[in-house]
Amino acid sequence: MSKGRIEAKVLWGPAEGFRFPGAQTGVDYILQKYIGGGGFGGVFRADRVVDDRAVEVAVKLVLLDPSDPRDMTRKLNELQAVAGLRHPHIVSSPAHGGGFVSLEPLKGRPLCQFLELELADHDLTEGIDAARADLRTLAVHLCRGLAFLHDRPQPVVHRDLKPENVLWFAAEQRWKLEHFPFNRGHSRQQRSSSGSRPV
Ligand SMILES: Nc1ncnc2c1ncn2[C@@H]1O[C@H](COP(=O)(O)OP(=O)(O)OP(=O)(O)O)[C@@H](O)[C@H]1O
Ligand SMILES: [Mg+2]
Repeated sequence: MSKGRIEAKVLWGPAEGFRFPGAQTGVDYILQKYIGGGGFGGVFRADRVVDDRAVEVAVKLVLLDPSDPRDMTRKLNELQAVAGLRHPHIVSSPAHGGGFVSLEPLKGRPLCQFLELELADHDLTEGIDAARADLRTLAVHLCRGLAFLHDRPQPVVHRDLKPENVLWFAAEQRWKLEHFPFNRGHSRQQRSSSGSRPV
């Protein structure tokens, strides 16, 4: 995982076919389709290309503000924590990196973090089939993911449980939680008396 620059040209919105050097030598990501996101960044369906062999992944790009070093440091720390989480009901992030990226139509070359994520088939906004007892599966899988976060040596509170952050992986027949802290204004001062960390 390199901390070097990513040279990229990414169109916000539909961004088919843009390639940027990945976090590891010999790895490229080709953004294929914009899935969604907000003002701080977005998620793309992408190909992770190694030696001309492509694997479908999701890539999350997040804008950072270099004029606020404290905020940036906090976000980078939170990113490390998120990227390190491994559980069957938490979306995993096999690689992450950062650099200055050319983003259109945004001006300049903003500092950006990216995370490679395992690609989900859809999120919970598409609903579930209650008639097939999928509701129980959903509840069990969500509770397992949340329990994992709460049982960490330094307990983690999700704080952003919503349909967009609940993702379905058909091949595994699993719901997984996307756990990503960047855009919710958390700070160390928000630690609870129990020592939980709002990331
Ligand atoms: N790994 C993934 N695979 C497929 N779709 C994803 C993946 N991660 C996120 N998405 C989808 O991409 C869209 C944008 O996600 P993003 O996380 O940027 O925004 P959000 O979930 O609305 O907000 P938040 O930043 O609070 O998580 C959502 O519809 C989400 O379900
Ligand atoms: Mg999300």
